[in-house]
Amino acid sequence: MKALYIEQFGLDHLVLAEVPQPMAGPQQVLVQVRAASLNYLDLLVISGGFNPGLPLPHVPLSDVAGRVVAVGPGVTALAVGDDVVSTFIPQWRGGTPTAADVAVAARPGLGVPGYLAEYVAVPAAALVRSPANLTPLEAATLPIAGLTAWNALRYVQLEAGQTVLLHGTGGVSLFALQFAKARGARVIITSKDDAKLARAAELGADHTLNYRTQPDWPTHVLDLTAGQGVDAVVETVGGDNLNQSLRALKIKGRIAIMGVLNGVTTRVDTLTLLGKQATLVGMEVGSTEDFEAMNRAIETHDLHPVVDQVFPVAQLREALLALQAGRHFGKIGLTF
Ligand SMILES: NC(=O)c1ccc[n+]([C@@H]2O[C@H](COP(=O)([O-])OP(=O)(O)OC[C@H]3O[C@@H](n4cnc5c(N)ncnc54)[C@H](OP(=O)(O)O)[C@@H]3O)[C@@H](O)[C@H]2O)c1
Repeated sequence: MKALYIEQFGLDHLVLAEVPQPMAGPQQVLVQVRAASLNYLDLLVISGGFNPGLPLPHVPLSDVAGRVVAVGPGVTALAVGDDVVSTFIPQWRGGTPTAADVAVAARPGLGVPGYLAEYVAVPAAALVRSPANLTPLEAATLPIAGLTAWNALRYVQLEAGQTVLLHGTGGVSLFALQFAKARGARVIITSKDDAKLARAAELGADHTLNYRTQPDWPTHVLDLTAGQGVDAVVETVGGDNLNQSLRALKIKGRIAIMGVLNGVTTRVDTLTLLGKQATLVGMEVGSTEDFEAMNRAIETHDLHPVVDQVFPVAQLREALLALQAGRHFGKIGLTF
């Protein structure tokens, strides 16, 4: 079978090679991987920016979907023929996690080998069933971006009739757009690109703002909300963008923070924070229980993730460059 691995860090050291097919051990299933999706994190892992101490060679990527083709001893929850999708934080089953549950060292693709191979032997507990209405390619977009958006709206307690602000048209934001509309909320979304904003409006965004041509977008958000601001923000950008989001927030509003696109540190405008009586919530994707709840909602509302570009696995480098260029709308997928 084919597997893709990195021999050295960097996009020029990706190797697609024939390797022995694994077997399902105790409590494991063998999954025929049908599709994968990219996250910005994959770029960081592959370039060595995330964990320079990662043992090499390393099979990257955490987000895959496929079919169970064999089950190992002791597996009862899954059977041959089940369509499954990977989880990113397998030890976090539900509720409040322990530090060990969310240890980065245990995450597939990050601390332990990932899943970019034709067949992978995976603990059955590290998988969930794919939503019945999704293709493998669509399902492969769920583990990080989908679940982060799902929990972001949960953490900010977004209700029908409320307004949420979304930044950019990447994977997390477009999932948040779809989930917010399914809840009956109003969506304001930003982008650097008017064509992407037009596509976001087609997906249901109520108001669109171009953060390049309208750099004072917080004022526009206030104008669109009768001077009150939004009930919630999904902060996919981070860095100093957080202070702008605070300006656009309603009193008692909530911000779910997961983004590091603008850096990992910032000086928070404390006066605005306290003036708004704001709640800031940090995010770490989510648990298996959350994933299953999200999948039920995806089936109920027949939601379909936005997969913008699809590359064969052999073109992972081109796919990563496309992600880096930031021209995508939603998710970038890979197929074998
Ligand atoms: N902590 C967690 O649990 C967690 C989970 C998932 C993701 N994340 C992080 O969340 C962030 C977003 O993830 P993603 O998967 O959605 O990324 P993505 O698909 O790569 O989307 C990035 C998009 O954000 C927009 N953007 C970039 N800079 C912006 C700015 N200054 N203002 C507004 N929009 C901007 C761009 O959209 P336009 O082209 O439309 O402008 C860009 O294409 C990343 O930093 C990722 O690492 C964290």
